[in-house]
Amino acid sequence: MSPQPTARLAVLISGNGSNLQAILDACAAGRLPAEVTAVFSNRSDAYGLERARQAGVPAIACPKPREIERRAYDTALAAQVGSYHPDWVVLAGWMRILTSSFLDAFPGRVINLHPALPGAFPGTDAIARAYAAYQSGDILHTGVMVHLVPDEGVDSGPILGQEIVPILPTDTLADLEARIHAVEHRLLVDTLAKILSEE
Ligand code: GRF
Repeated sequence: MSPQPTARLAVLISGNGSNLQAILDACAAGRLPAEVTAVFSNRSDAYGLERARQAGVPAIACPKPREIERRAYDTALAAQVGSYHPDWVVLAGWMRILTSSFLDAFPGRVINLHPALPGAFPGTDAIARAYAAYQSGDILHTGVMVHLVPDEGVDSGPILGQEIVPILPTDTLADLEARIHAVEHRLLVDTLAKILSEE
């Protein structure tokens, strides 16, 4: 059987890039039939850009200038990302809401990782919000999901993968964050592997 073609991934980040690192490591280890063709960050100081450079991957800082309107920024970002001809665009810790000016350039091909279960804690600080909800007795566990981003909805697209993450009475917020990130690193790679195998 001929080997699977190597899928081209563009990865968008805003910070540490530990999920990017999980993808880079999986590609290098042959656990993911893909290559990261470029990494983009809206934060020039994101450590994830350094992770890309260390992996020999083009690392592009694309901060949004204050005076540029968000749809114009998204249009320009889509052109930059598109110039690397990605098969998939992976939002891994990307902290800006993307408008249709970006999304329509990659229909059905934008994937987002979010550290909460579908519909639970959309938006920022999802882990801290889940921790507080547990402390208040409102939830018994939280989770992680990987989903498509078909439109400007926040963390609300069709689910590609999800996993429950337990919260323990003895947990500090840091304990829960560590447990969630460990699930993210595995779920993101496993979900990417699944969708690539279905192509
Ligand atoms: C992760 O929890 C991600 O889901 C969220 O930002 C955090 C940072 O991830 N959006 P990373 O270490 O930058 O990949």
